[in-house]
Amino acid sequence: MENWGEAKQKTRNISVSGFSRAEDEARTRDNQLGRLELYQLSYFRYCGCKYTQHLMLYANFFLKKFHTATIGTFKIFTLNLLPNKKIMHTLKQITSQDTFIVRQPVLRPGRGIETCVFDGDDLPTTIHFGIFDNDDLVGVISVFEVAHPNFTEDMQFQIRGMAVLENQQKKGLGDKLVQHAEDYINQMHGERIWFNAREVAVGFYQKMGYKVIGEAFNIPDVGPHYVMHKKL
Ligand SMILES: CC(C)(COP(=O)(O)OP(=O)(O)OC[C@H]1O[C@@H](n2cnc3c(N)ncnc32)[C@H](O)[C@@H]1OP(=O)(O)O)[C@@H](O)C(=O)NCCC(=O)NCCS
Repeated sequence: MENWGEAKQKTRNISVSGFSRAEDEARTRDNQLGRLELYQLSYFRYCGCKYTQHLMLYANFFLKKFHTATIGTFKIFTLNLLPNKKIMHTLKQITSQDTFIVRQPVLRPGRGIETCVFDGDDLPTTIHFGIFDNDDLVGVISVFEVAHPNFTEDMQFQIRGMAVLENQQKKGLGDKLVQHAEDYINQMHGERIWFNAREVAVGFYQKMGYKVIGEAFNIPDVGPHYVMHKKL
């Protein structure tokens, strides 16, 4: 599955040998309506039409309304396999039980649902957020008000249970969840965020400005972890 950036990049790479080539390529992709529109219009832009702006508007109007538009020698259309269903990602507060549907397959695969319950999940100082793909919960993050012995600030928060369903990873959802948790922690006047990061996820958190402190340690049944943190 590719993202918009990659789709645009690939569009630039195809040769201007007629629209059928673009269409064939598009057919092999993830044929979401919005994504394909962008693909086709990017292709159109690539063709270097003199009146690109007007034609883009014109094409966009017809594509949205009729899923087809004819411009000069180009017939463009959307493959309406998922009619009018644009992807909408929303973030909202959820319950600890809601998180299990994502925690279980991502963080505790093959293990019982009881392993998804964390100490302190239902404390009044704990909060859980979920990211939804339309109505489906696809990613979760939990924030606990807990201090780590390495740090001295009064208001410290721990992130736990960070997980995005495997088929939804690498689309920016994890980033959105961490940003949302950070916004919440800022509102709570948090001074330090810390967590035990799985070794495989260290790079992800580093991109968001978190630093490793100390040596790797093992969490039984889960694997090697590092303490990571950020001062707010
Ligand atoms: C780690 C995880 C939460 C990341 O979520 P995601 O939605 O895939 O991440 P995003 O798409 O928002 O990625 C944001 C950036 O981090 C990068 N990234 C994502 N996962 C990464 C990883 N494991 N290592 C290094 N970089 C990573 C992405 O490429 C992206 O970089 P870019 O902005 O330069 O394109 C998700 O992969 C996951 O649930 N993994 C399994 C469970 C897990 O390890 N959870 C963490 C427990 S501490």
